[in-house]
Amino acid sequence: MIKVGLILGIAGACRTDELVNLTVDDIEDVGSSLIVKIPNTKTKIPRIFVVTDMGNMLELFRKYLSLRPPHVKHKRLFCTTKQENPVGKNTMGKIPSVVASYLKLPDVACYTGHCLQRSSATLLADAGVDITTIKRHAGWKSTTVAEGYVENSIENKTKIANQVLVGTTTSAITKTVNVSESNIPSNINFENCTNVTFNLNVNK
Ligand SMILES: *[C@@H]1O[C@H](CO)[C@@H](O)[C@H](O)[C@H]1NC(C)=O
Ligand SMILES: *[C@@H]1O[C@H](CO)[C@@H](O)[C@H](O)[C@H]1NC(C)=O
Ligand SMILES: *[C@@H]1O[C@H](CO)[C@@H](O)[C@H](O)[C@H]1NC(C)=O
Ligand SMILES: *[C@@H]1O[C@H](CO)[C@@H](O)[C@H](O)[C@H]1NC(C)=O
Ligand SMILES: *[C@@H]1O[C@H](CO)[C@@H](O)[C@H](O)[C@H]1NC(C)=O
Repeated sequence: MIKVGLILGIAGACRTDELVNLTVDDIEDVGSSLIVKIPNTKTKIPRIFVVTDMGNMLELFRKYLSLRPPHVKHKRLFCTTKQENPVGKNTMGKIPSVVASYLKLPDVACYTGHCLQRSSATLLADAGVDITTIKRHAGWKSTTVAEGYVENSIENKTKIANQVLVGTTTSAITKTVNVSESNIPSNINFENCTNVTFNLNVNK
């Protein structure tokens, strides 16, 4: 349960109550990925996110689903296997602290239920994703919160550091290289590709 909560929470920037309310009907397993709908009770416009098959994430989800007792009356995804009751807000909110404790991080109690959504937004901001995308991903109404993540992202701070220390922003260098089959990493498939652009961020 902890692992599946972590996967869905980070992938979808979910709040604790959104995970608690998630039903088995909200998740569609399309084989190569999961399509998850977070219903919005107020606007009736659901937020949708996808969990791709990285590591053994889908396998973990399927395993968790297979442990669901068949005669459970409710539709909630997260339930205690013994009592078959839906998992509540308190248990769900403890996921980050359980993970932090497993990772032997200091101040385990500081990892509240908000951590999943915050980590998701932080990861996106650090990947250089724009404010609008982060806002939509996390289901925030205003851009103010998302702005904070982008402003404080390592991506932004690195750019600022370069401006302070080197006095220049990253200069654009266009370089054409011919890539032969022999030096393509085997996990990247270029079949049917005719024009591929790589963006390399080089920290000098
Ligand atoms: C979760 O369900 C409860 C009870 O039905 C409801 O009051 C609450 O608004 C729901 N939360 C979300 C985020 O949908
Ligand atoms: C970095 O943060 C500033 C605000 O401090 C913001 O105006 C700017 O757009 C951000 N840069 C990027 C690349 O997001
Ligand atoms: C790439 O290959 C083409 C065709 O073989 C050749 O004309 C071109 O000069 C090569 N470019 C570089 C950067 O090596
Ligand atoms: C490349 O194109 C062929 C013909 O359309 C298709 O059968 C094949 O699956 C494609 N390969 C990939 C990796 O998409
Ligand atoms: C490759 O794609 C880029 C971006 O779409 C475009 O600017 C460029 O002209 C294309 N180059 C070729 C050789 O098609």
